[in-house]
Amino acid sequence: MNAVLTVEGLTVRFGGHLAVSSVDLEVPAGRISGLIGPNGAGKTTTFNAICGVISPSSGRVRLGDRDISKLGTHQRARLGVGRTFQRLEVFSSLSVRDNVQVGLEIRRSWSRRRAPASQFLAAGADLSGPEEVELILDRLDLGAVADAPVGSLPTGQARLVELGRALAARPRVLLLDEPASGLDDAETVAFGELLEQLAAAGLAVLLVEHDISLVMRVCRHLSVLDFGQIIAEGPPEEIRRNEAVLSAYLGGTADVSAEAAMAPGGGG
Ligand SMILES: Nc1ncnc2c1ncn2[C@@H]1O[C@H](COP(=O)(O)OP(=O)(O)O)[C@@H](O)[C@H]1O
Ligand SMILES: [Mg+2]
Repeated sequence: MNAVLTVEGLTVRFGGHLAVSSVDLEVPAGRISGLIGPNGAGKTTTFNAICGVISPSSGRVRLGDRDISKLGTHQRARLGVGRTFQRLEVFSSLSVRDNVQVGLEIRRSWSRRRAPASQFLAAGADLSGPEEVELILDRLDLGAVADAPVGSLPTGQARLVELGRALAARPRVLLLDEPASGLDDAETVAFGELLEQLAAAGLAVLLVEHDISLVMRVCRHLSVLDFGQIIAEGPPEEIRRNEAVLSAYLGGTADVSAEAAMAPGGGG
């Protein structure tokens, strides 16, 4: 397997607390991989270490063949690590268009050789920055609100703006931290379809999500974290029958809908 993102032996400590312990992940192109687990399992911390927001005590992060473990957050973003945040991070007072434009700024010195997300956007067309922003707005159905401040939008649209900003930087791998939280059922289904289109266009996607039915529907591979350790990995249909996973969820802090979805035969 040719992984776009590889995490090896990632360990993160906060003082004496071991938040992430020897985590290995491989995220290939063209697939949605899921990272799931109860609250506090270490999912966001893993994302933070991949992006360079926090320094791990040990372990390596590779993007393609390149070891990016020692690089800063901006360098990693430029090289193709894209991300959205659990607590939605948008510029509320800026317009939708300007928020997406920020993604372009990240790639100021981007490599011309890289354009996987462009296939999703316009079949490989070589667009100028402003044209690409309009295309992203159009594809994410944000054209009608392009001039509105993001702070005035409902959560569902604001999450799309955050995704648009990440896409504008032309990521090679996209890390999504609970992107469906605050979305209603119809929005969640539409969001899942959008992710599937992005993966089909060649993007590597790593999804952290509490909505287990969304996870089961769109992910082709799951890694399950519990107390900072990977306790299981494999295709969703195997994971939902895995004893260790079921007991982590049933004994943990996951909500009832997650339990129901995890039960064999449950969920969507
Ligand atoms: N900045 C921090 N300082 C100290 N402990 C933290 C910090 N961030 C997270 N933790 C702890 O690390 C563990 C993993 O947290 P987190 O990665 O946010 O879990 P998840 O995203 O899976 O819910 C939790 O026990 C959490 O309390
Ligand atoms: Mg989290």
